[in-house]
Amino acid sequence: MKKIAILGATGTIGANTLDVVRFSEGQLGVCALAGGRNIALLAQQMEEFCPKLVAVLDTAQADALKKVVGRRFGGEILHGDAGYAEVAGFHEADLVVSAMVGAAGLKPTIAAINAGKDIAIANKETLVMAGRIVMTLAEKQGTRVLPIDSEHSAIFQCLNGEDIRNVSRIIITASGGPFFRQEITKEITPASAMQHPRWRMGKKISIDSATMMNKGLELIEARWLFGVSPDRLVAIIHPQSIVHSLVEFNDGSLLAQLAAPDMRLAIAYALHFPERKPLNFSRLDLVSVGALEFFPPDEEKFPCLAIARSVLHTDGILPAVMNAANEIAVEAFLAERIDFLQISSLIAATLSSFKDKENPSLEEIIQADALARAEAERILTERVLVASYPRVT
Ligand SMILES: NC(=O)c1ccc[n+]([C@@H]2O[C@H](COP(=O)([O-])OP(=O)(O)OC[C@H]3O[C@@H](n4cnc5c(N)ncnc54)[C@H](OP(=O)(O)O)[C@@H]3O)[C@@H](O)[C@H]2O)c1
Repeated sequence: MKKIAILGATGTIGANTLDVVRFSEGQLGVCALAGGRNIALLAQQMEEFCPKLVAVLDTAQADALKKVVGRRFGGEILHGDAGYAEVAGFHEADLVVSAMVGAAGLKPTIAAINAGKDIAIANKETLVMAGRIVMTLAEKQGTRVLPIDSEHSAIFQCLNGEDIRNVSRIIITASGGPFFRQEITKEITPASAMQHPRWRMGKKISIDSATMMNKGLELIEARWLFGVSPDRLVAIIHPQSIVHSLVEFNDGSLLAQLAAPDMRLAIAYALHFPERKPLNFSRLDLVSVGALEFFPPDEEKFPCLAIARSVLHTDGILPAVMNAANEIAVEAFLAERIDFLQISSLIAATLSSFKDKENPSLEEIIQADALARAEAERILTERVLVASYPRVT
């Protein structure tokens, strides 16, 4: 049995991962779980999967969890950075699923690699912030970083057995989100932005999909996961979300991976890798899908994609700055402190306060993240945010 530790067990990816474990007929097992604040769900997961170690956000959540599970739970309940690091490095784990949302995933993912664990990574923000450091560390530790993001899983599957030097382009598909065929106005509400046409996901990634920042984050994620130069990475719109991404080779051939839009397929591929196991989740009926469409992305309409594409070509602290500003902007939009159009303005304004710094250490990246959050908050509270901030080019 392959034993799995899950960071972000109570999230959408966490729940889908547990579904994959549930249907693996004993080939996969759970040894450690980390959640944040959703104590009720975590308690249910502990009841069903019997992990030996659990970690939550802070002491208050740990006390609440201990009250809920009482003596029924014979394992250990930890909290905070130290608790997450224990889950990430748990000695029984063969593989760690990195599925916390946002920058919170960075330190535990690094802890897992430092402990020599293979990683199945959904937490793209970790690779956006510190892709070079993470991939270099994984190489040094001899651990695998396996993609869970459906686009990256598709690329990974297309590259299996291929020589990366023969790749001319990696083409990442995007659904276009809820506003692909709609005008974007400042009247867009958080509820309408969360209505993704194809996927059911957590709040942050749903808003990232609506602004298309998600595709920008994915371009940066692909750069580090596959070690390709930024000029070989392309995003195209594919509203049906059936072709999950493509690889173009130097002979002009394109390989694509197609499947029903169901995250469990990508998760199962990573969890069982290098094997491919039979699954009964979702099958694709191409005849009922009918036409598959492809369009170029409109970066005037989706300025977050343009911002991320410019940051993709940098190699220092700017990706972490952009990521932090985006997290603050998404929270502010969800709390109705800013409108939808101001998300990109806030990110661009925050970025314009920073100069890049080459080859940053992990500490410098973490510091840039904290400074960028403070700067984005300053811009928000001082209300110096205007819609016409120049875009970084
Ligand atoms: N959902 C998808 O289909 C999908 C697809 C591809 C990639 N991803 C990526 O996967 C990651 C997770 O996405 P999701 O949609 O599963 O998010 P989600 O549903 O919002 O779940 C986030 C998870 O992170 C935990 N968490 C939140 N803040 C935390 C903190 N400060 N410290 C520790 N844990 C914290 C949450 O715990 P509580 O809920 O207990 O507070 C929850 O377990 C993201 O990076 C996303 O971009 C998601």
